[in-house]
Amino acid sequence: MIKGILFDVDGVIFDSEEFIRQSYYDWYKKRHNIKITYEDLLPYTGTGEPTSIEGLGKTFGLDFDLEEDKKGIYDCYEQIIQGVLKLMPGVRAFIENAKKAGLKLSLATSADRTKLNSSMKATGLGPENFDFIVSGDMVTRTKPDGSIYRYAASGLVLPNEECLVVEDALSGHIAAKRAGSPSLGVESSFPAEPQILSGADCVIKDLSAFPAFSTLEEFNEKWEQLCRSFREKSVIGKLLERAEAAIKNAYAPYSNFRVGAAVLTEKGNIYGGCNVENASFGATICAERGAAMTAVEAEGKTKFRALAIVSQSFEPAPPCALCRQFFSEFADTEMQVYLLSLKSGTYRHTNFGSLLPFAFEFEDK
Ligand code: THU
Repeated sequence: MIKGILFDVDGVIFDSEEFIRQSYYDWYKKRHNIKITYEDLLPYTGTGEPTSIEGLGKTFGLDFDLEEDKKGIYDCYEQIIQGVLKLMPGVRAFIENAKKAGLKLSLATSADRTKLNSSMKATGLGPENFDFIVSGDMVTRTKPDGSIYRYAASGLVLPNEECLVVEDALSGHIAAKRAGSPSLGVESSFPAEPQILSGADCVIKDLSAFPAFSTLEEFNEKWEQLCRSFREKSVIGKLLERAEAAIKNAYAPYSNFRVGAAVLTEKGNIYGGCNVENASFGATICAERGAAMTAVEAEGKTKFRALAIVSQSFEPAPPCALCRQFFSEFADTEMQVYLLSLKSGTYRHTNFGSLLPFAFEFEDK
């Protein structure tokens, strides 16, 4: 059960992403005499100033001072937002509902407190609305590291599984998953699909699309419903559908344990597989490896972005250890994994890094 909300700030609470970009454009023109573009900044969305400034410094070969650049950007930001910064649609009502429902609320931003304070002052949404606030200057590792969201959950005295993260950035969804929290995406900076493939459980336009609620139970029901209907119409639904089609041909006369799998490759193609057993037992091939073999046959060297597995066991079946090692050849820690029991309807979402930390890699030395 979700008992707390951990909000990312820029692009979730404040409609600030455009002003942040403008501050970077202005400051880099003024101080370094270079023209920064939207594309230059996109990979750093949500990562905080140190990561962005260092990244830009490297890209453009700049001689820079981190503190000077940070102060310059924040000063530009403070000037630009006066009288124009707004809350994102639906924020006020969502916070009111959440307070009524007894949800605990935290802010968790990679940006420094200075910038958060400027935004709060400009919009009138003050710190009294939140039970706990974590800003970038309070942690040594910013998003996509999970520490900001771990810190925020501990500030609410809740485990991460019971805290829903609300994010607009890919780095933020990755951070949420690393901390062990489910996450809801809003579409201020990125479309739905890349957010899903970074770990979002559900993506909506903004918080005004979240249905009204007034109790904790009602909030949790609405969240579950939202996830289920989103899943059906998203790439997650397509993957599960493909796995369900594959399970029909599972050949499991010995165990009678039928499994269907589907992988999504970096090219956006989906391939299915089913388990194929053998009288020797040991020669049996799992559904996951079947799907992986088909994908490699079709695309050659490829990368898997997501894996869906369906089974008829009561608990959804995770991939076996052999399949995990096999997949580590074609997947990184951010490959999303969706598990569904066709018997009980139980659904689980995790990622490859949680299933196989510290994977063996061949080093040819
Ligand atoms: N199996 C899979 O296909 N995938 C898994 O992740 C676990 C196990 C199959 C292999 C065998 O045919 C049956 O399930 C029972 O182990």
